[in-house]
Amino acid sequence: MFFKLTDEQLMIQTMVKEFSREVIAPTAMERDRTKEFPAENLRKMGELGLMGMMIPPEYNGAGADTVSYVLALSEIAYSCASTAVVMSVQNSIICESIYQFGTDDHKERFLKPLAAGKHLGAFALTEPNAGSDPVGQSTKAVLDGDFYILNGTKRFITTGKNADTIIVTAKTDEAKRHKGISAFLVKKDTPGLIVGNLEEKLGLRASDTVDLIFEDCRVPAENILGNEGDGFMIAMSGLDGGRIGIAAQSIGVARAAFDAAVNYAKKREQFGRTISKFQGLRWMIADMATEIEAAQQLMLSAAAMKDRGEKYTAQASMAKLFASEMVNRITATALQIHGGYGFTKEYPAERFYRDARVFTIYEGTSEIQRVVISNHILQDKRLP
Ligand code: CAA
Repeated sequence: MFFKLTDEQLMIQTMVKEFSREVIAPTAMERDRTKEFPAENLRKMGELGLMGMMIPPEYNGAGADTVSYVLALSEIAYSCASTAVVMSVQNSIICESIYQFGTDDHKERFLKPLAAGKHLGAFALTEPNAGSDPVGQSTKAVLDGDFYILNGTKRFITTGKNADTIIVTAKTDEAKRHKGISAFLVKKDTPGLIVGNLEEKLGLRASDTVDLIFEDCRVPAENILGNEGDGFMIAMSGLDGGRIGIAAQSIGVARAAFDAAVNYAKKREQFGRTISKFQGLRWMIADMATEIEAAQQLMLSAAAMKDRGEKYTAQASMAKLFASEMVNRITATALQIHGGYGFTKEYPAERFYRDARVFTIYEGTSEIQRVVISNHILQDKRLP
């Protein structure tokens, strides 16, 4: 699809690019070392309208389209992938799910502070024994008067430690498989919600990833998102949007690694000339640029389909699959171009390489994206 950005989309992209390079980039390397959560930068992003970009202004959002959102997210990821994943989860799986499935009361109490960036959100679907297969989850929610009582453990929860609001899925009816899963809006300070230890990770080190443990956690019955049994559908449709966001994160990191490699190649001299003069490297650079452009087109195409109200599940998976695998190739090549220096912490190439690794895993592995895409083409559903 040929794509021409509107003046407004270009303006948003330019604004976020400037902010990202001036405010987010200078401390990204340090954050990767110290694992300090970027709370202050996220607060500033909230003030700029970046934490609820696609939510209408009446709920404190920026009222932007998905194309503007993915361009903005990509610019944040260019500077700091840890910051970008927080923005991504907040905008798509959290804010959009509440906007789409929440009651007026949910929008007032939960969405407004989230979209303004005053609160942060987390999405708790994955469990120790239920990753690619969330229907196999074992967290339970039992109705007791005006409360649901939640028991279970959620794993690898992005922003789980720093979030104020968590969307949690749990089984309300064991017998009904995916139709027996419900989603709940849970405030962080609810008694019975315990935050586990921080994961020690290869990349995205400044974004917190924790277990969330629910022990007789009493959640007001009115905090159910949608109806009983809607939880799997809410999670899946949230992940559709989320997966375009992972494509955006991938493209941001790939562009950062590409620019670093090109700059290095133009300065580094060997055999009496800059290494950018060698055809072997020139072809690497040509292939990298082509792959990034292809991923960008897939991302924009999926985002535009969403904006037009078309079903975009397969396109979101294609964008996520291609972009996340692309960025792993690009960051490996960028590190290679840096030679021995690429292997050191003096240059950012090794951080890009580590940060990129999770993109083919979270919000559905590459293998799961291929299940979604092939099911869509063959129209015979269920796992192969
Ligand atoms: N939108 C709305 N509904 C959907 C949907 C979608 N995209 N995909 C499926 N559904 C509905 C189907 O219509 C079906 O409903 P009906 O029975 O009413 O028709 C129901 O869900 C079941 O569909 P399937 O039979 O296709 O489901 P399945 O059990 O075979 O699983 C799957 C499909 C694609 C494998 C899915 O389980 C999946 O995506 N797994 C990966 C989970 C995942 O991405 N986890 C990431 C964790 S979150 C995370 O990483 C966030 C973070 O912190 C960064």
